[in-house]
Amino acid sequence: MITVHSIKELQLQLEGLRKEGKSVGLVPTMGALHQGHASLVKRCVAENEVTVVSDFVNPTQFNDPNDLLKYPRTLDADRELLEACGASFLFAPSVEEIYPEPDTRQFSFAPLDTVMEGIYRPGHFNGVCQIVSKLFDIVKPDRAYFGEKDFQQLAIIREMVKQMKFPLEIVGCPIVREADGLALSSRNARLSEEERKNALKISQTLFESRNFAAAHTVEETKRFVEEAIAQAPGLRLEYFSLVNGWTLQDISQWEDTDYAVGCITVFCGEVRLIDNIKYKE
Ligand code: PAF
Repeated sequence: MITVHSIKELQLQLEGLRKEGKSVGLVPTMGALHQGHASLVKRCVAENEVTVVSDFVNPTQFNDPNDLLKYPRTLDADRELLEACGASFLFAPSVEEIYPEPDTRQFSFAPLDTVMEGIYRPGHFNGVCQIVSKLFDIVKPDRAYFGEKDFQQLAIIREMVKQMKFPLEIVGCPIVREADGLALSSRNARLSEEERKNALKISQTLFESRNFAAAHTVEETKRFVEEAIAQAPGLRLEYFSLVNGWTLQDISQWEDTDYAVGCITVFCGEVRLIDNIKYKE
């Protein structure tokens, strides 16, 4: 695996490989890699001849400066994990390399980006679209891989690709969970032992709610989750939305869609965790 810090060098290397007819896959990450990322990288390696993994903590998608400051940075460990997964390139640029001047582009994919995270993290998806579109322009991948844990992000990126006509395929990959059910996240590293135990209630509640939903209405299922999290020690619910997985708009009855997804955001101590579950697909 080759580590590259400059855009020019990466493009030079990829140009040669593309001339040999090799397919290129991209896995965008912000580093602090875990087995969830490993599953994306392994799939990318299996489906493409060249795998580029970007490792860049993108400042423009953080609406909370404290969150940006505390975001874990573990480049050496990331390099080891990527070597083991068979990645070809680790692209780890500086902020100046990516943003030599401020990115003033505005992206709007309403109504996908005006709900859920769009309400609680204003500007977040604009920053995500800025960096992801830049990475697509730099790498020009045939395929790009994103996790379904960031369900709303994946829907917005698919829409961006469609509207901006990026010639590539977006591959969504299933959530990877710890053996006990907690969704893997770089933020889990910030949980204390006690918070880690408390956080487990999030996935447990979602799984229980899927059984509950089989015999209850959307409204009852929503209340079931909200009440379970409200009663759980150390957790504070930001939102739980039951949405149409295509449009991300709230549903009021199960018959409203063939693809029903519950998206949740919970503070566990100071750490903001997200998860989701499919009720119908
Ligand atoms: O999902 C993430 O880690 C980030 O939002 C992404 C897609 C790498 C853009 O910085």
